[in-house]
Amino acid sequence: MADPETKSNVMEQIVSLCKRCGFVYRASDIYEGLNGFWDYGPLGVLLKNNIRDWWWRNMVECPPIGPDGHPVKIVGLDSSIIQNPKTWIASGHVGGFSDPMVDDRETKHRYRADHLMCGLARVQRKGGAIEELGHFAVLSGDDAVELLVKKADKLARKTGGGEILPPETLTPFTKLTPEQQKLVIGPDVMTPGTLTEPRDFNLMFETYVGALQSEDSKAYLRPETAQGIFLNFKNIVDTTRVKIPFGVAQIGKSFRNEVTPRNFIFRSREFEQMEMEWFCPPDEALKWYEFWKAERMKWWLSMGIKPENLIFREHEAKELAFYSKATVDIEYRYPFTAPEFGELEGIAHRGEYDLTQHAKHSGQKLDYFDQELQLKLKEQGAGDEEIKARSRYVPNVIEPASGLTRAVLVLLCEAYTVDETRASKMFMKFHPKFAPIKCGIFPLVNKDGMPEIAEKLYLDLRTHFTCEYDAKQTIGKRYARMDEIGAPFCITVDGQTKEDGTVTVRERDTMSQQRILLDNVLPYLNEQLSR
Ligand code: GAP
Repeated sequence: MADPETKSNVMEQIVSLCKRCGFVYRASDIYEGLNGFWDYGPLGVLLKNNIRDWWWRNMVECPPIGPDGHPVKIVGLDSSIIQNPKTWIASGHVGGFSDPMVDDRETKHRYRADHLMCGLARVQRKGGAIEELGHFAVLSGDDAVELLVKKADKLARKTGGGEILPPETLTPFTKLTPEQQKLVIGPDVMTPGTLTEPRDFNLMFETYVGALQSEDSKAYLRPETAQGIFLNFKNIVDTTRVKIPFGVAQIGKSFRNEVTPRNFIFRSREFEQMEMEWFCPPDEALKWYEFWKAERMKWWLSMGIKPENLIFREHEAKELAFYSKATVDIEYRYPFTAPEFGELEGIAHRGEYDLTQHAKHSGQKLDYFDQELQLKLKEQGAGDEEIKARSRYVPNVIEPASGLTRAVLVLLCEAYTVDETRASKMFMKFHPKFAPIKCGIFPLVNKDGMPEIAEKLYLDLRTHFTCEYDAKQTIGKRYARMDEIGAPFCITVDGQTKEDGTVTVRERDTMSQQRILLDNVLPYLNEQLSR
């Protein structure tokens, strides 16, 4: 197992690089930030857009080939962030989208109850006597026991000191009885009994629509993009030529008032999702679940993520929502979870739950008349009653749901490569398709006709790829900067360019350099970048 220091170091380095180079900044930075909110800087927005476009391309414009050998059909949607609040009653979010919370009456701090780990610490005094020091609660993590011992030691010193005997096991706060909970010493206090019982805390952000702020005008910022798709199911069936099975894809912002936003952009309060709802006949749902499971893993691998850093984690029966027949997560080995994995995407078999709920709450019919099935049944000689019963149904839904901003984090972690031999000591090994800047273009020196040639090349190349022209500082420093931001290629115009029309092309991963003719730069880069 990687030692925790190295793990947190890697994450610290990535966060620091993100700020230094303009990938991700703390939101409201000049006001000391706002916990759980992040801004995507000049490079971050390019990286995010590249991932977004690749998902859209592979879902909507060029979706996978289905089991019948033909491309599946998926259409796009961009629905409102704020919908009629009945949406969230029907979906179950108003009643059930919550985390158990514990408040500290003394410090007013709030914790997720299932993130608090508790254990009894004892102290062995100098004379050998063993005394109980108390039940301590600490935030879950690799260093939970270490934190607990530190705190117990602080308490023991006040009463004569001794050696701390750590608890043999840690128990989540939620698993303790109310009597045991009352004895717990909270993470930021030294006395027991300041923590409240766990209470449910809804994660949806509330707002008001219109001039009057009352219960009647209350609305919610969407906590997922999925519901906008279910609300438009009827519109799409009625106004387009889609036939079941088909999918509806949407990318956009979602908001959750997460109790403990953490691990940089992994869990934030405002984030972006890429979700697709696949509507299919109920008796084909399991087949499509398996199909999307395989397709989604292929898609993540197409981004250049190492296979050993991705796994499937099938949800156990007790984890499943009551309406779900199966759910699997695609997990990534983040530096802060290594050697374990953390969620990146969920693929859920949602049955007919969502459409049925919205039909019930809206009073609209959200079932589907399957004309093709009707004809097939007729051909098979089925009776009228059977045909009627089977050709109108509520479609089942398979949902691959992933985080766009979480995908940005994955590509940042995957690309971060230490290399002590370079001036930058590291480089970002982005797959060229996702690299925010594809090519740096430099005159070796800012005189002798070199800037004019380099700028002309830049003006040509920038119409094909994202390029940066840079004439300042030494060439070594310019290469180092391009390594830091992960530009796969650098082109340098030098003294020889005027003599023989060649430039130097430097390749990021190998740092190898070769001379090629100015006229060959575009075809060369085209070939290299389309790999
Ligand atoms: N419609 C289903 C749904 O929203 P989810 O597992 O809650 O399912 C899907 O979210 C994906 O959205 C997650 O796998 C994750 O990548 C991303 N996501 C969820 N909450 C997030 C948060 N607070 N910050 C960043 N990404 C988040």
